Amino acid sequence: MAGTAVFAELVDEDGAFKYYSYGEWKKSSSGKSVAIINPTTRQPQFKVQACTQQEVDKLMDEAKTAQKSWAKTPLWKRAELLHKAAALLKEHKVAIADCLVKEIAKPAKDAVTEAVRSGDLVSYCAEEGVRILGEGKFLVSDSFPGNERTKYCLTSKIPLGVILAIPPFNYPVNLAVSKIAPALIAGNSIVLKPPTQGAVAALHMVHCFHLAGFPKGLISCVSGKGSEIGDFLTMHPIVNCISFTGGDTGIAISKKAGMIPLQMELGGKDACIILEDADLDLAASNIVKGGFSYSGQRCTAVKVVLVMESVANALVDKVKAKVVKLTVGPPEDDCDITPVVTESSANFIEGLVMDAKQKGATFCQEYRREGNLIWPLLLDNVRPDMRIAWEEPFGPVLPVIRITSVEEGIHHCNASNFGLQGCVFTRDINKAILISDAMETGTVQINSAPARGPDHFPFQGLKDSGIGSQGITNSINMMTKIKTTVINLPTPSYTMG
Ligand code: G3H
Repeated sequence: MAGTAVFAELVDEDGAFKYYSYGEWKKSSSGKSVAIINPTTRQPQFKVQACTQQEVDKLMDEAKTAQKSWAKTPLWKRAELLHKAAALLKEHKVAIADCLVKEIAKPAKDAVTEAVRSGDLVSYCAEEGVRILGEGKFLVSDSFPGNERTKYCLTSKIPLGVILAIPPFNYPVNLAVSKIAPALIAGNSIVLKPPTQGAVAALHMVHCFHLAGFPKGLISCVSGKGSEIGDFLTMHPIVNCISFTGGDTGIAISKKAGMIPLQMELGGKDACIILEDADLDLAASNIVKGGFSYSGQRCTAVKVVLVMESVANALVDKVKAKVVKLTVGPPEDDCDITPVVTESSANFIEGLVMDAKQKGATFCQEYRREGNLIWPLLLDNVRPDMRIAWEEPFGPVLPVIRITSVEEGIHHCNASNFGLQGCVFTRDINKAILISDAMETGTVQINSAPARGPDHFPFQGLKDSGIGSQGITNSINMMTKIKTTVINLPTPSYTMG
């Protein structure tokens, strides 16, 4: 389905997907392509252009020029185009989902959900932008000591310029539009560098923006090898802001990027603290959903369960009973557990499992792997000297650490380098608030698994989990700066009632 019908122009005569620049689909002058391996078959599925630095330079120049006239395009018109793109994303959800299934082994229904959620995000962003960008502030000077009312200060939100958007493989469409839509509504232009796994789904998404009729040069999408164009993009002098979601590459990017605003989300080791009074059925359902959906390949997945010893056996039994019901197999069959994205990811996960085995963790299921497919695994009696207690597997393996006090749980959570989300299960709201306040994470969920959505909620990580806050409103604000104009009056002036 990918590359057919309305998407046919995306593919060159060699079957490689083109890159998008100045409103056109183009072949790279490099004559080279990058292969995308299907995680399920482990065979090449697609290929994308290996763009050159010269091509990046050109589209950066185009983005800079296009942004100047886009900033003068009325807000309602920008919103109108975004609504069109949103409708097209939903119209072509099956074609987009088909790519997600083949490139990143996302279960079929979840893949469709990602496309629909992306359309909704773009629409909401258009509406929110019209509201918040249509407002500024008016300040008068005589509220500050020593001043009379001789100065009127007007503030407005203005675009940053060219935004570089780098989404991760696990949501190559949704986490791309979560950057693209706020950037565009705020009057910026966009250069998108999708992940290699997920690039074709992202190109299909970009085509929906193309069909909506955005001006030439305003949106570009470049594909290629990180070694060739990675640093070149992130250190490019035309880039005015980087919005990145991914792993610790983001730390390296932030060190090299220079004096531009950064929005970074770099993963998490989200802890799930279970108190003695918790509803254990609710906790078990959330642990399984939070730990194993999309095979644990979510930055907000439950990545460590910290359960009070007195209820640990009961909780582990309930979780085990649910894990056994998870279906395992290809994404086309909409299985719960599908192959992880690459062989090296599977090898990394296996390394964590073997380390835990060697150090004496209790295996609640037998460890099983075929190719990139890893069966869901709950590891009980994990101790802090095991790697799995601290590292993100990004796979269907979930450690349980038994604790004897709430403080021990909070200490483990806060000793992590990460600080994305966490959750606590208790029927005592007072305890929940105290624990939430003590957990050093950007969000704490009470009686539910961690999650980024709904997409207008603020989403942020502390420590190595990121810089800045996302969510639709925060992203629009982040992609603007404040401009003030001060009117100086010759004499104090007061408006009378
Ligand atoms: O992987 C990182 C995503 O931001 C997680 O999003 O909570 O909607 O799965 P999600």
